[in-house]
Amino acid sequence: MTAPTMNGLIHHAVRRDLARLAAALDPWPDGDRARAQRLERAFANLRRELTHHHEGEDEHVWPFLARTGVEAGLLAEMEAEHGAMSAALAGTATALSRLAQSGSADDAAAARESVEGTRTVVEAHFDHEEKELEPLLRSHEGTPEWKAVTDQLRHRSPGDAGSFFAWLTDGISDEDRAALKATVPAPLTFVLSRALGRRYTKEIAPVWR
Ligand SMILES: [Fe+2]
Repeated sequence: MTAPTMNGLIHHAVRRDLARLAAALDPWPDGDRARAQRLERAFANLRRELTHHHEGEDEHVWPFLARTGVEAGLLAEMEAEHGAMSAALAGTATALSRLAQSGSADDAAAARESVEGTRTVVEAHFDHEEKELEPLLRSHEGTPEWKAVTDQLRHRSPGDAGSFFAWLTDGISDEDRAALKATVPAPLTFVLSRALGRRYTKEIAPVWR
C-alpha cells in the first residue's frame, strides 16, 4: 500500500475518532450525564480539527489544484461535500449536547443515529477525495509550490499545533507513524504533542481510555 500523505493521516485520525465515539455510545449506561459531557467535549475537538482541515482545503488546496489544471467541476463537488459534512457535524453536536443534558437512553439512541449518519457523509467524502485527489497531492509532495500551500495550512498557535499532533497520533498505526516521520521529523512531533499538546492529552485523550 502507498504511504498516506498528511491529508490521508488526518482522514485516518477522523475515522478513528468517529469509530471511538460510536463505540462509546453503545451500549449506553442510562442517565450517565458525566460520560455524555466527556463525549461532547471529545466530539467538539474532532469537529474543530475537521473544520480546520476543510477550511484549509477550501481556501488553499483547491485553488492550488485549480491552478494545476484540476477540473473545476470536481473541486466544486468537493466543496459541496464539505458543506454536507459541516451540516452533519452540526447535527451530531446538537444530538450530543442534548444527551449531555439528559443522559437518557433515548437521547443516546438519537446521538448514535446521528453519529452513524455523520460517518456515512464523512466516509463518502474521504473516499472520493482519496480516490481522485490524494494521488495528485502525492505527486506534488516535495515541490516548493506545494510547500507554500502546506505552510498556510498550519495551526494558528503553538498550542493548537500541539493539540493537533497529540490528536493525530492518538491511536495511530505503525504504518501511519512511519508515514508521519517522513513528513514531520519525529522529535518535532514528540515536542509538539507532549509539551504543547497538553490541551488534548489532559482534556480529550482520557475520554477514550
Ligand atoms: Fe476534504
